[in-house]
Amino acid sequence: MTGDVRMDHAAHPPTDDEEIQDWNGDCDEPMEVAAPLPAASEDSNRGIESRLESLQLETKATHVKDKVGVVPKEVEDLNDHEEDRKRHLNVVFIGHVDAGKSTTGGQILFLSGQVDDRTIQKYEKEAKDKSRESWYMAYIMDTSEEERVKGKTVEVGRAHFETENTRFTILDAPGHKSYVPNMISGASQADVGVLVISARKGEFETGYEKGGQTREHVQLAKTLGVSKLVVVVNKMDEPTVQWSRDRFDEIESKMTPFLKSSGYNVKKDVQFLPISGLAGINMKTRVDKSICSWWNGPCLFEVLDSVEVPLRDPKGPVRMPIIDKYKDMGTVVMGKIESGTIHEGDSLLVMPNKANVKVLSVQCDENKVKQAGPGENVRVKLAGVEEDDILAGFVLSSVGN
Ligand code: GTP
Ligand code: MG
Repeated sequence: MTGDVRMDHAAHPPTDDEEIQDWNGDCDEPMEVAAPLPAASEDSNRGIESRLESLQLETKATHVKDKVGVVPKEVEDLNDHEEDRKRHLNVVFIGHVDAGKSTTGGQILFLSGQVDDRTIQKYEKEAKDKSRESWYMAYIMDTSEEERVKGKTVEVGRAHFETENTRFTILDAPGHKSYVPNMISGASQADVGVLVISARKGEFETGYEKGGQTREHVQLAKTLGVSKLVVVVNKMDEPTVQWSRDRFDEIESKMTPFLKSSGYNVKKDVQFLPISGLAGINMKTRVDKSICSWWNGPCLFEVLDSVEVPLRDPKGPVRMPIIDKYKDMGTVVMGKIESGTIHEGDSLLVMPNKANVKVLSVQCDENKVKQAGPGENVRVKLAGVEEDDILAGFVLSSVGN
């Protein structure tokens, strides 16, 4: 297990929210205000298109903050142990507001030994003082005062943990509809999605119906290249659920046709499992039969450790779809490397306009690196192309291929 926890947040003020009106930007620096999002449309495709258009606006306003200030070892070592590194996966937690994404993410960090009991006790007290007793686990991921007071994630929280075969970066997306642009930026960095569904009476229904975030998040995730979904049916411990098999089956059977229609192959790409994020049950170890007699499947850590994502070849041709660009003493493009390795000094091609460019520098998260491989989210500074000549969706490619 890694001993370092790091939480970065891409910050954005709320847009069309009525509930969260008293945004007062607790942070020291002024923030650019993202333009209001188009209203959610009945026509889901149009809704998604407009959300994706808003990505352009959103990424410009991105601020990445180091909440803890620790540079994770794996990032420092990025260039040193290329061969013996475990595989790395980005996992985004998505789903309707209050489904338990931050609680589950926080519990993962606790179970993987990164948060000690004393810190948990401190959070319990703080949550109690804020009359949000049950939110203490979420405080591990929700680090700003604003998020803690409201009990809602605003910025994408980022943390790291490891299982036997895999190093994970967890991206904890906000569920509230006002922060969909932040959710998009989280999902666009991920290979695997953990879709958190609340099994609590009435909560699954609210999240799933029109206007709920469950459907929109699934469709966005699929569009943004999240190839595998782990659907965790959460809050199984809750008094209205009590590890009911009928409730689990009901949710699975209602979700399955929708996941199919969103483009997921439910046999190969989707796995359902019951958990309690708050109690940490069926997460690191399988649920005890005395709690849930009918579940014979794996626990969350096992599922994540064995999830197979499309092979990415570090020696293959460079392919990096550009999600955004900006000017910063050169032209900087942002995206996730899908194949190949980008090195400082490389000559590459921007497609489809066939612009020959040279890589001036590569940045992974906030760290400058000499090279970055498949699956990494990077900012690449280029010479030889004007920012205006690049559009989101263009692809940075090898010259010869
Ligand atoms: P947003 O960030 O606002 O989208 O919410 P979220 O999905 O991150 O939910 P969060 O983790 O903040 O939890 C919301 C509420 O659900 C809190 O009161 C949690 O204690 C509660 N909760 C989360 N997981 C569980 C669970 O497994 N069981 C029970 N009983 N409550 C849970
Ligand atoms: Mg949250």
